[in-house]
Amino acid sequence: MAETLPGKFIVLDGPEGAGKTTQVERLVRWLRENGRQATAVRDPGSTPVSERIRDVLLDKRLPDMDARTEVFLYMASRAEMVARVIRPALGVGLVVVSDRFVSSTAAYQGSAGGIDPAVIWDLGRIACGGIEPDLTIILDLPVEDGFARLVREHDRIESKQRAYHEKVREGFLAMARARPDRFVVIDDRRSPDEVTQAVQEAVARVLR
Ligand SMILES: Nc1ncnc2c1ncn2[C@@H]1O[C@H](COP(=O)(O)OP(=O)(O)O)[C@@H](O)[C@H]1O
Ligand SMILES: [Mg+2]
Repeated sequence: MAETLPGKFIVLDGPEGAGKTTQVERLVRWLRENGRQATAVRDPGSTPVSERIRDVLLDKRLPDMDARTEVFLYMASRAEMVARVIRPALGVGLVVVSDRFVSSTAAYQGSAGGIDPAVIWDLGRIACGGIEPDLTIILDLPVEDGFARLVREHDRIESKQRAYHEKVREGFLAMARARPDRFVVIDDRRSPDEVTQAVQEAVARVLR
């Protein structure tokens, strides 16, 4: 059972280069300008333990990690993140905006990695102890458009093959179709400002 706390939990997710980090920053700024206390987190990360787990997950010197190992590391990071940051913030009424969450594991290690996404959602519920996003916004764009935006060197996950990233995209779209009450897909082939506008409209509906 999902727990009811006074805050709201918003996730921005989607494939590489979709603009998640850009839009998380803009969303938190907009919420604060409109009188809502808000905080940004990044998944995996945002606590000392979770950031160490993130370093392992993104380390290019460790290219051969089993998909199940990845799942448990991501979930361990989330357990810590929920316990230390997200649950306390929601408890005092903050809007928490996360750059990726369980939806990423369902898309990457699930839809693309071959693990049953239903198992990943179950593990996510265990790791998060009853906390689940009120809204997950999927920023969607074709795989090649996303990669064209990424100018820096690719990390371990980003270096996987093109077909893998196509499955990731399909995974995100499928989960959004399955849970229209909790997901919204935003077409990201638009200017950052137009995407920001669409994100604000989706979040405003949840905050009302
Ligand atoms: N709507 C957009 N149109 C064009 N470029 C964008 C858009 N949104 C973000 N970008 C650019 O694409 C790159 C990746 O954005 P970023 O926010 O880091 O994506 P993500 O966190 O999803 O990987 C950045 O250089 C950013 O400025
Ligand atoms: Mg990012």
